Amino acid sequence: MDEKNSPSAVVSETNSPEANQSSIEEGVQRHWQGVVKRRSFLKGLGIAGATLSAGALLGTEGNAQATRSPGKLSKGDAALLRFAAAVELIEADLWQQYNELGGVQGGNPAYIAALSNLDGDMPQYIADNTDDELSHAAFLNAYLISKGEEPVDLDAFRNLPSSQATGAKDIGRLTNLLKLNVDLSWYTRYRSAKNPDFGVKFKGPFTIENQPAIPLNDTDTPPSQSQPVPPATPQESRMQAIANTAGFHFAFIEQGGASLYPTLAFKATDAEVLRILVSIGGVEIDHFGLWHDKAGNAVNAPLAGVTDPETGLTFPNLNNPATELTQTNLILPEPCEFISKSLPPCSVIRPTLTQNGGAVATIKAFTDDLLFLGQSPAFFSLVKRLAAEADSVRRGF
Ligand SMILES: [Fe+2]
Repeated sequence: MDEKNSPSAVVSETNSPEANQSSIEEGVQRHWQGVVKRRSFLKGLGIAGATLSAGALLGTEGNAQATRSPGKLSKGDAALLRFAAAVELIEADLWQQYNELGGVQGGNPAYIAALSNLDGDMPQYIADNTDDELSHAAFLNAYLISKGEEPVDLDAFRNLPSSQATGAKDIGRLTNLLKLNVDLSWYTRYRSAKNPDFGVKFKGPFTIENQPAIPLNDTDTPPSQSQPVPPATPQESRMQAIANTAGFHFAFIEQGGASLYPTLAFKATDAEVLRILVSIGGVEIDHFGLWHDKAGNAVNAPLAGVTDPETGLTFPNLNNPATELTQTNLILPEPCEFISKSLPPCSVIRPTLTQNGGAVATIKAFTDDLLFLGQSPAFFSLVKRLAAEADSVRRGF
């Protein structure tokens, strides 16, 4: 059916966006009023217990953040968006470095060729992921300003060195990609029926430590060399290992965003802030799913087995043998424990508890990744403060 003439198209044309918006907001308000009533009922039954006050039950105890005047954000909502803006600036900075060298308009042909060995569309995906992060950062800061709030500016910390390889701009960076530890526990975690929010720890299928994710310079990896599969020379192997590391790093970064946004969204009070966090968070999850799939091609035939001659890092064949926790095409989340072990397993993003996937946990994961290697104490104190403020927010009503 022609969409224009479909009944639903007619309905949507007669409803103004404003009318739709206000009916959505009314629906959300009704929902939350119902939640508050149910919680008050439980309190009346004494279920709150001796140590849990009514305020704690409602999540508003000692919570000045929840107070807000019309048109303004609560302090808590502003803190959530500010931390999200900081993370997006960090993400945008690292993606720009990947994009300059390996994006579809990127300037390092050998790196582009090595990335394309994982998937011919890698350069396009890199460019699009970069655009997404830039848009997230710009939107969040513009939204904060529109609400009379301070935006986040990390420009004073753009002092880390760039790659010297052909294609990279020689400008200061917020993030380091020249030597990374890439935590691969997400690979196993999403294949497991266990959930880190129940205290389970995961190990990745192999280890990436102190490995560059972008070419360092043209002596190390000539920009015009070919990148056959398998690589034939030490320099070709070096470049392929660098590209493979990038492939796993893409997924590491985006799975962090996939967990972070739900933890922030649970704390939002204003329906529009919740809408922003859920809507951006969904795109982080989309990115993660994509990169999870592409990274698997580095550890599957015919590309598997590459060894970096400088660092000794080897990318094994995770399909030889294929196990439940390693098989490369098992990229969709396995149903796992969720909320209570007495409930049936559920296929979900994990972790989503603040202590495991929240703001402080995200900064710690990025720090352990060496993403901030060389950053100043002032940078760490700023991002840690923003993270602590975001994690301490409680939803208000
Ligand atoms: Fe983002």
